[in-house]
Amino acid sequence: MDGIPTTMRAIDPDVPGGPEVLRVVQRPVPMPRVDEVLIRVVAAGVNRPDVLQRKGGYAPPPGAPSIPGLEVSGTIVAQGAEVAIDMTGQPVCALLAGGGYAEYVAVAAGQVLPVPNALSMVEAAALPETLFTVWTNLFERAYATEGDTVLVHGGTSGIGTMAIALGAIFGLEVIVTAGSDDKCAAAVALGAAHAINYKTEDFVERVAEITGGKGCAAVLDMVGGDYVPRNLKCLAEDGRHVSIAVQGGLMATIPIFDIMRRRLTLTGSTLRPRDTAFKSLVADELHSTVWPHVEAGRLKPVMDRTFPLAEAPAAHARMEAGEHVGKIVLTLD
Ligand SMILES: NC(=O)c1ccc[n+]([C@@H]2O[C@H](COP(=O)([O-])OP(=O)(O)OC[C@H]3O[C@@H](n4cnc5c(N)ncnc54)[C@H](OP(=O)(O)O)[C@@H]3O)[C@@H](O)[C@H]2O)c1
Repeated sequence: MDGIPTTMRAIDPDVPGGPEVLRVVQRPVPMPRVDEVLIRVVAAGVNRPDVLQRKGGYAPPPGAPSIPGLEVSGTIVAQGAEVAIDMTGQPVCALLAGGGYAEYVAVAAGQVLPVPNALSMVEAAALPETLFTVWTNLFERAYATEGDTVLVHGGTSGIGTMAIALGAIFGLEVIVTAGSDDKCAAAVALGAAHAINYKTEDFVERVAEITGGKGCAAVLDMVGGDYVPRNLKCLAEDGRHVSIAVQGGLMATIPIFDIMRRRLTLTGSTLRPRDTAFKSLVADELHSTVWPHVEAGRLKPVMDRTFPLAEAPAAHARMEAGEHVGKIVLTLD
């Protein structure tokens, strides 16, 4: 490939461990397959699943690079023979199954979205993973719709802040939980209708108070474990419960008759192992439904901090300390 080096800087730990395993090494620049584009990366979003992968608890799906990183922004510098239009030179952001912590990444052309003027490249790198996740889970699996009240745990997380932002655009009343009064204040400042400090308040009681005993239309849950039966108590009749993570436990005991009596739906999903066809379909939907709001400057990711690639250990340490609000992003020179 003309003008493109054969090797690149990347983070690709060969053993699991603490943040210190995230050392910069040299790796071959990936060759785009026929349906892929090659992106010269400007910035790469950091997500909680990257931390799990670093610790050895979340292996890349088959065929995905071992290099961590589920989202990037950058410029397209090459493309495969079957990519229908010339995309070279376009600034894009992309959803990845891995490979983002590097100077170059190859990804299916269907998984990229154009970066409009309203977004900086750093902001663009912080959008795809949370946007695809919240869209497919809260809006598609849980059918959240204008006028619905929804409960979202982890209100200041990357996912939670995206749920607040999308909720504002699509007319949801978003109740969140967070682990400190400062985080609750941050979530309300970002647009959450109510923020419950789960360490000092019982979120089940608070949701009942806030909704006048009716409950929420949907719960977006990243905690699992004993949160699940408590979340079900927060649901209104016909309510939907969507699991996207199990940070508080893999197993739950749930009241089956209550699910029948109130016609509740329990569902969930994981984005990373879904195939290119699914991710491309979601990208198309986002392009038509959400991207006009991105282009108009109405939807931006909530930014916490950026770190140069070489400081990826500090970026992961910050995420694990849990002090961040919104997105942590790595930048490449
Ligand atoms: N299923 C999918 O496709 C998918 C895709 C992307 C991400 N995820 C998952 O979504 C979650 C958020 O990801 P992220 O990148 O946004 O991470 P993040 O910014 O690091 O946020 C993690 C959040 O989890 C909350 N939390 C952790 N343990 C908790 C507990 N026991 N009780 C209540 N809250 C707890 C934290 O809240 P406090 O600090 O306020 O306690 C924090 O806001 C992660 O678990 C990630 O694996 C799933």
